Amino acid sequence: MRYITIALAKGRLTELSISLLEGAGIDCTELKSNSRKLILTDEKNKIRFFLAKPADVPVYVEYGAADIGIVGKDTLLEEGRDLYEVLNLGFAKCKMCVAGPKELEGRMDSITITRVATKYPEIARMYFRRKRKESVEIIKLSGSVELAPLVGLSDVIVDLVETGRTLKENGLVVLDEIADISARMVVNRVSMKMEKERIGKLIQDIRKQL
Ligand code: PRP
Repeated sequence: MRYITIALAKGRLTELSISLLEGAGIDCTELKSNSRKLILTDEKNKIRFFLAKPADVPVYVEYGAADIGIVGKDTLLEEGRDLYEVLNLGFAKCKMCVAGPKELEGRMDSITITRVATKYPEIARMYFRRKRKESVEIIKLSGSVELAPLVGLSDVIVDLVETGRTLKENGLVVLDEIADISARMVVNRVSMKMEKERIGKLIQDIRKQL
């Protein structure tokens, strides 16, 4: 029997992803051992895991280097890879939003936006292409995106909003909602056919816990 390989997003999704796998009867002892090993296994179930940067998870899955991935919908939208999204795991819920200074509230349709700062340039590009005739300049940042409108780098931002605290404490507001985000399970297209039974059972065992 060949190994089924699962790619997990490193970071805030890791812990809950592991709990779901454990709940599905997978032995995650090695995965939780804090080892420096990059590939961890559950020998009994012939499953192996690795942790990767969130943006890399859909890449591994599309190329079949991992059969399954657990990653945020934000990353899936941004990466636009050819995969099966089989389950909405329902945790790490937040919203992808356009946000900006209070003064712009309710004026999204009438104001001119020239620059948008974001960690998600593709999502921002798609949104503004659909919503706006004039072109906007998308500025890619790596984090603390809320800073951009405060220091005059951009008019608005496209970013994740969870509790809304970061926006509030910086005098910013949601101007429009782009998408509901949460953790998703994705499967490689070929693996889905070749390992239909094993992957199908795993999907069922995870779904039961949701
Ligand atoms: C995320 C996101 C927002 C913040 C939203 O940032 O980009 O900045 O959390 O959460 P809130 O609505 O509960 O305040 P993260 O903590 O990942 O850090 P980053 O800004 O460096 O990306």
